Parts: sequence; structure tokens; C-alpha cells
Amino acid sequence: MLSSLRGNMSRIPTFREAMALLAGRPLRWVPQLIALLFVIWYFAVIRGINSEQYIYSYGTDLPPPIGHPHRPPLYRPPTATADDWKLRAHQVRDAFIHSYKGYREHAFPADELKPMTGKGRNNFNGAWSITMYDALSTMFVMGLRDYFDDAVQKIADADYMTTKPQQYVPFFETVIRHLGGLLSAYALSEEPILLKQADKLGTALLPAFNTESGFPMYALNTLTNATHGSWTGHTLWAEALSNQLEYKYLAHLTGKAEYFEKSVVCSSCTNQTLLTVCFLPNGIPKTGAPSNTQFSVGAFADSGHEYLLKQWLMTSRSEPKIRDLYLQASKSIIETLLYVTPDREILYVTDVDLRRTQSRAKGKDIVEDTESVVTAHPSGSFEHLSCFLPGLLTLGVQTLDLSPSDKELHSWAAEGLAYSCWLSYADQLTGLGPDIMSMKLFPNSSEGLWLPKVEQWKKDGRQGQSRRDYTNYKKTYLLRPEAIESFYLMWRTTGDPVWRERGWTVFKAIQKFTRTPVGYAIVMDVDNSAKSAPVKDEMPSYFLAETLKYLFLLFTDEDILPLDKWVFNTEAHPLPIFEWTDAEKKLYNITS
Ligand SMILES: *[C@@H]1O[C@H](CO)[C@@H](O)[C@H](O)[C@H]1NC(C)=O
Ligand SMILES: *[C@@H]1O[C@H](CO)[C@@H](O)[C@H](O)[C@H]1NC(C)=O
Ligand SMILES: *[C@@H]1O[C@H](CO)[C@@H](O)[C@H](O)[C@H]1NC(C)=O
Repeated sequence: MLSSLRGNMSRIPTFREAMALLAGRPLRWVPQLIALLFVIWYFAVIRGINSEQYIYSYGTDLPPPIGHPHRPPLYRPPTATADDWKLRAHQVRDAFIHSYKGYREHAFPADELKPMTGKGRNNFNGAWSITMYDALSTMFVMGLRDYFDDAVQKIADADYMTTKPQQYVPFFETVIRHLGGLLSAYALSEEPILLKQADKLGTALLPAFNTESGFPMYALNTLTNATHGSWTGHTLWAEALSNQLEYKYLAHLTGKAEYFEKSVVCSSCTNQTLLTVCFLPNGIPKTGAPSNTQFSVGAFADSGHEYLLKQWLMTSRSEPKIRDLYLQASKSIIETLLYVTPDREILYVTDVDLRRTQSRAKGKDIVEDTESVVTAHPSGSFEHLSCFLPGLLTLGVQTLDLSPSDKELHSWAAEGLAYSCWLSYADQLTGLGPDIMSMKLFPNSSEGLWLPKVEQWKKDGRQGQSRRDYTNYKKTYLLRPEAIESFYLMWRTTGDPVWRERGWTVFKAIQKFTRTPVGYAIVMDVDNSAKSAPVKDEMPSYFLAETLKYLFLLFTDEDILPLDKWVFNTEAHPLPIFEWTDAEKKLYNITS
């Protein structure tokens, strides 16, 4: 084009002349423009979106896949010495001091610290300093007595009354973080003021239970007792079923029956039929009936499963009904939610939609339903939040009286899933795990179900064999704890030091990519290791309560919180295992 312009003119045309020329024969440009747009689109969109696929090609030394049900990892790093571990635990303690100091100096009394701008952030109710409460038990465990005493002093003045009519307290978050934090700190330190405050807060939150079903509402105003639902209008399983550890322990400490009775309704009115035939549904409206056909162990249901086993453990195995609910739920999870990917055979837990499909006999004018079949449609998404499951399963293996074949199955599932959680970190350029992965499904998705593969593998004489068949669907690393929680529980229950080494690798990545001058920040893309990986100005309180605590415990040789004496609530606040007295058993109708 340029040469033809030159051919016609002895000089370069002015902009106006060029435009006039082009306007004369615009059609000539169309194919070139389309081709150019296509090239841009191809590189920006297609290559951009699927960039994860290409990582696989660098991967001859990627960590080995878990393969068929259970395959020991090929590469085992040399185990560090006791002195190394001491040093490593100390580094985690320093990381905690760095983040709490940042919060205390720059953000308190706000809820959380903005770790990049060094400001406060009020993302809960803004008045109850959530990071301080969430950090309490970690401070104690790490022996940070000065910070602990300072926090106790601040907590002593709280009255847990909301001050404005439009101010609502999220029930579930407040129970697991504030109430759990207070109760745990009381159990550890025996400071009477902490129990007094836990009692005050426990009472202030009780009106959330004033619903037709007895399931708590999403949020309440503690001044007026007004409640409201979540944006979906439903109560989520995780939210409805994750307060019994806290309220039962509070009932035991204070002798107030109301605490037991209000919260226990949640586990006894759980729809038994549903638990037996399938698994826990995600959403429940006010009436206590399931609201949809979506089943998962992710964001909406996670701690619901967790609190079944943990309630049984916390009250010294005196409530077999709850143990049985856990056994049913975990059986359903293993049967219906565990899948493997087609190529690399990565074991993962996903959510499924149980849709009723109708086969129809079509007459001339009539469409008649002949039968309806429930089919499970797995989404293939694998959430970081679900990485608590291997830890729970391994805890179950250690504490339940399972049959030898169930024991084997549950521990395979635990090890395979914990391994996949590790893989989700190890595969990324930052070494940090994405929030949600989207796993490749078999063309006929039910062929990916794990359990039939286990059966087949046994038949074939237990031989294993085995690439990245997933994309990072949500690429953020939100400083979440679940994978490390499971590494910790795997280490404590199996004694295999490889879990400690994996935890150490994750901690090094956290130090490298998330640390800021005043705290720790969220990573926006785990698969981008550019020196300054983009970070987001947030430091969730659970980073102090859970992530750093589990890392510290993982690296500490001494078993500070033995699993036969303590149960961690879903925010990693340890609560002591206790026995109901005879009077309590009678009062609460507890029969073993
Ligand atoms: C809120 O409920 C508590 C009982 O849990 C009651 O003592 C208190 O008076 C109620 N407050 C209002 C404003 O109704
Ligand atoms: C429990 O769920 C089953 C199956 O959806 C239903 O038939 C039954 O009525 C439910 N029971 C209660 C008490 O809600
Ligand atoms: C999908 O796979 C399952 C299990 O292998 C099989 O039972 C089913 O018939 C298959 N469905 C189709 C449509 O091929």
C-alpha cells in the first residue's frame, strides 16, 4: 500500500491526503484489518487464557502425580535436622510478629490490616477488631506473652453491643473467630476475664437462633436483636453447622443449658435421610429443608463436615449419633465427590449437581415422562478451601474405629488429596496454590470417579502408573491455611516428615511473594513469578489464626497441642477435649 502511494506521489502524503485516498477505496483494507484483529485476538485471548496449559511442557521434573489410588511420591527431599526445624519454627514466629505488629501499629482497632498501604480495613462489623481476637491463641502458642496481655487488656472493655441500627454482625464468622478465639485463649491461659467475655458474647449472639427451624440466621444486630439473611436468602451449611464446638464448650464452662440447646438443634435436625442417601446439601432456607441440588465440601459446606467429627472428639467420644453422621457424610463424599483427572490422574474433590434427567416418550402431541433418573454432574472445580478435607479424613482414620478396608480407603483418600493440594502449590511459578482450579474432566464425566478406579486397581494387582490437566480458575493465593492444615494433620497422624518439608517449601514461597514492609498480602496470580508478583492490599485475619499457627506447629518438634487433648475449631483455635459430667449428660439427654 505504501509503495503504491509512493508510486503515485513523489513525497509522503499528508494525513489529509492519505485519508482521502483511503476513503476512496476502503474495501481494500478490510481483509488486512480482519487478519490483524485475528492475530491480536489469538495471542491476547486464546494464548493468554490457556497459558497454563503450556507450563506442562516445562515439566519433566514436575512433582509426580498421585496416580491410581495411592502411589508414594518418587522424590523425597532429605529431612532437615532438629536444629533446622527449631530455626524454621522460629522464622514462622517472626512472620507472626511482623504481621501482628503491623496490624497493632497501623490498623488496630479496625478489623484487618491493609498490608501495602499500612491502613486499617473494616470488612466485618468494624468495631470488634477481628484480627486481634483471631490472633489470640496463636500468640499464646508461640509464647508471645506481651502481645497476649496487651490484647487481653483491650478485650476486657468490650461489651459486644452494636452501636448503630444498621450495623450487623455476621453470626458464623463471629462465632468461629471472636468466640472461638476467646474460648481457646481462656482454655490455654485460664485468664478469667476471657471466659467472662466469651459468656457475654455468646449471649449477645444467641438471638440469631430465633428462627422457625432453629438454624441460625446469617447476621444479627446485638442491640436490637434484629436478624437478616445472607445475600442468597439462605443459611449455608457451613454457617448453620459450625457453632456447636464453641457453644457446647461454653455450655460446659458456664453451666448454661441454653447454649447447648440452641446450638445442638442444628445437628439433630439435619435431614437424616439426605445424609444417608447422598451427602450434605449446600444451602438451607430458614425452614431447614435443602434449597438446591448442589453438593460440595467447598466454601458453602466445608466446616459442616468438619464439625461432625470434631464434636464427637471434643466431648470425649460420648455422642455416637454425631460420629455416625460423620461416617455417613464421609462415605458419601468418597463415593460421589472424589474424581481423578484423565491424563495425570490427579485425585481431587469437587462439587456435583444432582440433576433429575427425564427420558421422554414423545407421542404425536403428548410429551410423557416415563422415568426420571438422578445423575451427578461434576463441575470439576477444586477449591483451596476443600484442602481441609485430607486433614479431616486422616484425623478420622486415627480416631475412629474403622474397618480395615475403610481405614485403608480413608487414608488413601487423605494422602492422595493432601498430595494434590501440595501439587497445586508446587506446580505454580510462585510455589503458592491457586484459590480454585478447574480440573479436566473425562468426556463422560462419570468415568473420572475415583472409587471404581480404586476397585479396578485392586483387581489389577495394585499397580500404579501416570501430566497438568487443569487450569487455574481463580488464580489468587488468599493466604489461606487449608493445605497447611492438612499437611500438619498428615504429619501428626502418619509421622511422615515429607509433609513438614512440603510445608517448609510453602512457607518459603509465602516469605518470598507475600511479605510487605508491614505485613503479608494476597497474591493475585500464583503462576506469575515476576519479581514483584502483583499483590492485593489485604491480610485476612485467618492468616494469623490459622496459616501461621499450623506452620509453627508443623515445624515444632514438641507436640504442643496433642490431638488426643485438643480439637481445633474451623479457625484453628484449639479447644480442649472434655467429658460431660453425669449431671450434664442427664440434663442434655446424652446417651452413649
Ligand atoms: C435481645 O435478646 C436477649 C436474649 O437473648 C434479651 O435479653 C434482650 O432483652 C433482647 N433485646 C431486645 C432489644 O429485645
Ligand atoms: C429429608 O429429605 C428427604 C429427601 O429430600 C425428604 O423426602 C424428607 O421429607 C426430608 N425430611 C425432612 C424432615 O425435612
Ligand atoms: C459413562 O460412564 C459410565 C461409567 O463408566 C457408564 O456407566 C455410562 O454408561 C457412560 N455413559 C455414556 C453416555 O457413555
